[in-house]
Amino acid sequence: MCGIIGYIGNDNALDKILYGLKRLEYRGYDSAGISIIDDKKLIRYRSRGRIEDLIEKIKDKKINGTLGIGHTRWATHGKPTDENAHPHIDCSGKISIVHNGIIENYFELKEKLKKKHKFSSETDTEVFAHLIEDFIKEGLENAVKKSILKIKGMYALVIISSDEPDKIVAARQGSPLVIGIGESEVFVSSDIPSFLKYTKKAIFLEDGDIAIIKKDKIRIFNNNKEVKRQIRNIKWTEKQAQKGGFPHFMLKEIMEEPQAFEDTLMGKFDERYGNIKFENIDIMKLKSIENIRIIACGTSYHAAYVAKYLFEKWTGINTQIEIGSEIRYANPVLGEKTLIIIISQSGETIDTIEAFKNIKNNAYYSIAIVNVVGSTLSRMLHGVIYTHAGPEIGVAATKTFISQLAVLYLLALCIAKLKNKINIKDIKNSLRILRKIPSLIKQILSNRRQIEKIAEKYYNHKDFLYYGRNINYPIALEGALKLKEISYIHAEGYPAGEMKHGPIALVDEKVPNVFIAPQNSLYEKVINNIEEIKARNGIIIALTNRSNNEMEKKANDIIYIPDIEEDFYPLLAIIPLQLLAYYIGVKKGIDVDKPRNLAKSVTVE
Ligand code: F6R
Repeated sequence: MCGIIGYIGNDNALDKILYGLKRLEYRGYDSAGISIIDDKKLIRYRSRGRIEDLIEKIKDKKINGTLGIGHTRWATHGKPTDENAHPHIDCSGKISIVHNGIIENYFELKEKLKKKHKFSSETDTEVFAHLIEDFIKEGLENAVKKSILKIKGMYALVIISSDEPDKIVAARQGSPLVIGIGESEVFVSSDIPSFLKYTKKAIFLEDGDIAIIKKDKIRIFNNNKEVKRQIRNIKWTEKQAQKGGFPHFMLKEIMEEPQAFEDTLMGKFDERYGNIKFENIDIMKLKSIENIRIIACGTSYHAAYVAKYLFEKWTGINTQIEIGSEIRYANPVLGEKTLIIIISQSGETIDTIEAFKNIKNNAYYSIAIVNVVGSTLSRMLHGVIYTHAGPEIGVAATKTFISQLAVLYLLALCIAKLKNKINIKDIKNSLRILRKIPSLIKQILSNRRQIEKIAEKYYNHKDFLYYGRNINYPIALEGALKLKEISYIHAEGYPAGEMKHGPIALVDEKVPNVFIAPQNSLYEKVINNIEEIKARNGIIIALTNRSNNEMEKKANDIIYIPDIEEDFYPLLAIIPLQLLAYYIGVKKGIDVDKPRNLAKSVTVE
């Protein structure tokens, strides 16, 4: 969480920093600030609220200078106020820093530093500015290196000093930092979209790295030794990171789902021959696995949940799924030859990273499924499969979920094939179904006005319940999560069969019950659950197949979904649930791209 950016070059730093901050606002948005070195003087402005509030505050100021840093905050220590907003400075007012992460020993450091230094915020970050001040006589680079040794915790730090206006110093431990290399200009940031307009060349810093960044030269040190880091070419485009005429990123990203699905699968299979291939994966290892563990958080966990049903049904391999923040404290006993799969959009979720560290030594083979190229998790495992969903700016995960599912469906087929659990005819057929998913999603999207009308009808309700059976149960969980995040309405997802074991007590004439009710082998059972709720005057919103004629008699509102084979239903059912959450959030006047208290990349524990 928190977005940080630094710029050094020949252009007006303020313009580039404000541009970058707007692209990073999805990472945190309760306060923002900038420090610029203008004519060897450090100028700092901060404001609680959004980046727009900061811009309003400085709009009449003349701020020049070609070196600076900026920050958009997601508060951890201290309320979102002007005083707690970053950048922070030392007592001389010459050193300025921005920080993402948590300095865990800040309290004891502050107690010591307080004797000599005057603190002006409640943040953990400010201690670092004062620490540097104690060593600054040795130059900024050495001062940062020495101060780093004193702190514990997770951080991405970017520091400038008006006494050394030719450089930025950046340090990473656990929180992401990426350097964008332009023509005689360099950016250092929490994420790529902040500089995508100016350059596509990037270096991802690794834990323990300290970078000394000048406009024409970058040096990186780790453990006091100079190290080389690979320069990567980013394929994302600037256009992908803009709204492109849509009122919100979230709607744009939902509308991009057919493309995201297609892009993710591109080049990975050939349905004529039933061939499946993944770059960067050791296929022979997959052939011999005997167990699977999948670790993830939030929406990525729901993708893992769908995968559990698929892997067990298609490959016959015992598959367990784990929430990152829980499994990291457990001592899981991994079965023989366990394949570990980590799913993360950002590749930076600290709970997931730490969970993997906890068990990686016992992994027979490990695969990361991530969207952000070069992110921490993309580099930590034996193999990586990228979801090519493009940048996802809306805080709620939408298109990256469908892309994760695309990879997981293909991986399940691949393992089933390697294990001889599926015949070639069925593989070809499944691949053909995957091929047609984007056009079926498009059909659902073209019907979005109907979902908007349902949202208009129910947006004032206080509680929603979502139900699904079998492979559709995780979709009920994901539908409920989307609604909570985007509309602040209380929503829960349940296995439809579990309803009568407790949740049914919540049912009355005010609670909408959203049922995923495909006409499949479990249809009759779901219909029974619908009847049980109708008998208690509950409101029914049903998702069902287009060919289902009987649902009209049972549901208050119906969302029809194109007919599709049973196992593939989640790939379609999630789309209307994302749209429902979106339209309800918009109706309630919520900033759906930046809902309160949330941040896109969760880099605190
Ligand atoms: C939900 C959402 C979060 C993330 C979770 C994991 O809309 O965005 O629940 O899914 O924080 O993030 P990643 O996938 O980046 O590890």
